Amino acid sequence: MKEIFERMRQLALPYLRQEIKKDAVLHTQGVINAMELLLEKEKGDEDILIPTAILHDVGWAKVPVELQKSNNEADKLEASRLHLKHAPSIINKILTEVGYNRSQIEKVIDIVVAHKFQNPKELEKQLLIDADAMSDAFKEQFYSDLESYKTTPQEHYEFRKRNEFYTKTARELFDREVETRRREIQMS
Ligand SMILES: [Fe+2]
Ligand SMILES: [Fe+2]
Repeated sequence: MKEIFERMRQLALPYLRQEIKKDAVLHTQGVINAMELLLEKEKGDEDILIPTAILHDVGWAKVPVELQKSNNEADKLEASRLHLKHAPSIINKILTEVGYNRSQIEKVIDIVVAHKFQNPKELEKQLLIDADAMSDAFKEQFYSDLESYKTTPQEHYEFRKRNEFYTKTARELFDREVETRRREIQMS
């Protein structure tokens, strides 16, 4: 990974550690890995898209703890809405610190705020949503989520299998991973 991306990742860590429901540091690493895989086949500017992966969930840091912990559907929706609302100011701070210019920062923010509640037509926005969902099937992330969601491997497999994707590239990579998880679960 480029040095500037590693600096962004370091600056994002304190924010990511404040997400309570799951291991956001591990999740983010999965989204970064997924984005790197997608960019081997899909068109996109890595100087914009890798940062969107690194920073897409930093807004969780400012979502009130009780809202993050709640299992009530309305609260969950509000929490998710807030993690998007709080993202721009944090992203602005981190990207300014590493020397990104105004136009680059605006592009990153524009993509990040569209990773929930939208059905974007732009490939860049679709790639972040795909990378976010792909991460769920990676080995470490999958088994870590079992703890976070207090679920069984079988239940979790059935749940993750239903993830949807915009790009064929993401679909294929995800299906391959999820099939590997299925075999692991069967053998255990
Ligand atoms: Fe998110
Ligand atoms: Fe995410």
